Amino acid sequence: MTTIENPIDSATAAASGASATERFHTDKSPFAAVKDTPKERVSQLAGEVLSAVHDTIRRHRVSYDEYNALKAWLIEVGADGEWPLFLDVWVEHVVEDVATDHRAGSKGTIEGPYYVPGSPECGARGTIPMRDGEPGTPLVWQGTITSTDGSPLEGKVELWHADSEGFYSQFAPNIPEWNLRGTFSTGADGSFEINTIRPAPYQIPTDGSCGKLIAAAGWHAWRPAHLHVKVSAPGHELLTAQLYFPGDPHNDDDIADAVKPELMLDPQTGADGSESVVYNFVLDPVKA
Ligand code: DHB
Ligand code: FE
Repeated sequence: MTTIENPIDSATAAASGASATERFHTDKSPFAAVKDTPKERVSQLAGEVLSAVHDTIRRHRVSYDEYNALKAWLIEVGADGEWPLFLDVWVEHVVEDVATDHRAGSKGTIEGPYYVPGSPECGARGTIPMRDGEPGTPLVWQGTITSTDGSPLEGKVELWHADSEGFYSQFAPNIPEWNLRGTFSTGADGSFEINTIRPAPYQIPTDGSCGKLIAAAGWHAWRPAHLHVKVSAPGHELLTAQLYFPGDPHNDDDIADAVKPELMLDPQTGADGSESVVYNFVLDPVKA
């Protein structure tokens, strides 16, 4: 079986799915049981979801063949370890909207399945861990973390993103463990400067059960190129976001529905072909 300690050795959906499932069990194990949720709420939510399924079956006169195809497919999603991918692509964006709609500070978006806590510390100004000669356009990103009242914050920007082929370290083979994953810590002035490379658009794995659904429905599997961040500071709400690049063909039809206009970068290309960008974060204080 694949483990996080032994990076996977093939770029199959089942391999990245197994890594994503194991990652979820490691980080989010307190959520494995619904022990603290009142029965009334579980009953209401489960009941409404089942009613929506029943309505769909009646409205479209779903056949036994279609029912059994669904059953086979659901079993396969589990066997492939693709539940984290499925849920993060087709469900998480609505949970994120509901969870953050009270905020006055920066907009967030979905976390996705590929966050790993504990990435290497890179200081306030530095280069994210990358291979010698890491392919891709160099990108220099300057920014600040402030509170909603404008005061600078001593905080952290955890950054993770795909490489120039769309692969994430720890979920695709033969990439160093912390490649393109780093934690930047701001000082009293709240500023940071990050050297990285521009990631490629990402295609969710097409050879697993999610890929089969996409093919069967005639959808596409693309997410636009994006940088993932978690931005934090004491006494403030954690911001989970992704930043996007103008002109990406999938900004308007992201399969994960996670693009928002506020998350669009404005990169400038320098004489040497490298890019620079300014993007600042505003965090909401935790309400007492
Ligand atoms: C998925 C991958 C991502 O990189 C992301 O940001 C969101 C979802 C996925 O494969 O499910
Ligand atoms: Fe991603």
